Amino acid sequence: MSTSQHSQLLIWDYCCIGLYFLLNMAVGAYALCRPNRHTISGYFLAGRYMWWLPVGASLFASNIGAEHLIGMAGSGAASGIAVGAFNFISIILLQLMSWVFLPVFIASRVRTVPEYMTKRFGGQRIQMYLAVLSLVLYIFTKISVDLYSGALFINQAFKWDIFGSILALLVMTAIFTMTGGLAAVIYTDTLQFFIMIIGALVVMSKAFHEVGGYEALQYKYMRAVPKLRPENSTCGIPRADSWVMLRDPVTSDLPWPAFLLGQTPASIWYWCADQMMIQRALASKNLSHAKGATLFTAYAKILPFFMIILPANWNYFHDSI
Ligand SMILES: *[C@@H]1O[C@H](CO)[C@@H](O)[C@H](O)[C@H]1NC(C)=O
Ligand SMILES: *[C@@H]1O[C@H](CO)[C@@H](O)[C@H](O)[C@H]1NC(C)=O
Repeated sequence: MSTSQHSQLLIWDYCCIGLYFLLNMAVGAYALCRPNRHTISGYFLAGRYMWWLPVGASLFASNIGAEHLIGMAGSGAASGIAVGAFNFISIILLQLMSWVFLPVFIASRVRTVPEYMTKRFGGQRIQMYLAVLSLVLYIFTKISVDLYSGALFINQAFKWDIFGSILALLVMTAIFTMTGGLAAVIYTDTLQFFIMIIGALVVMSKAFHEVGGYEALQYKYMRAVPKLRPENSTCGIPRADSWVMLRDPVTSDLPWPAFLLGQTPASIWYWCADQMMIQRALASKNLSHAKGATLFTAYAKILPFFMIILPANWNYFHDSI
């Protein structure tokens, strides 16, 4: 690419990013104009008046963050499609949330999961314990990863300083979340849902067009061995089971019994008992809308396998030649 083409591209890129931030701010401002932001349920649960589409889009967008776009794509490129199993299991767990867990949360009229624990078991200790545990888990397993991968993306795309990027991300998020409450989060999530889906579909169709379809992708992926790699090791050679999702119990890197029996309980916590998901589902008008939202998210969760993991495999092949 010539230099003038490159700078032209950069200008359009900056325009897109600018437009994106403007849209986000417009959506956030719209949420701020909503009337019942000053009550507790108006602030924490968006007034409980959301219909299924924003709730479903928000569930999806809170799950698929930068850490997915970067981390899942990276795992897919490095060791094949096994990481896609997480997506498919969540389709079932989402229904578990709206059919088994949510009716209980709604009937007990709670706003947070720790609040439910107090109603169920009494006392203050278990509530405090769960609240502190959740905070620690959020900080060390979610927010830090999200911020790092988001900042990494900004750093790679625009060469901004990584700490500056983290600070910018934090300030933007804090302003919207603290002033707008859950409604602002759900509306901006919905915007991001559509941007993510459209962007990823474009990348996917371009990638598949260039590589020549699924079978061509499989064929080329297995032959993508870098020229420079350590001698006498398997490093850099694609795994023989790259295209197997539920892998061998003994010899593989993600044995299927461990995935189904070991990972699923943790995923049940993530989808069905974690404040991040429950709070969004509780913002629905009523249980029917919450069920509609989880169905919508479940359909959307079919996409990341094709949108993120497969194009990443193509990139792997492309980069290693
Ligand atoms: C790789 O293996 C060959 C044959 O076994 C041996 O001659 C060579 O020294 C090994 N190379 C390294 C870097 O260990
Ligand atoms: C939920 O609200 C919709 C209208 O938005 C209504 O048609 C539906 O019957 C309600 N469901 C329940 C369980 O109340």
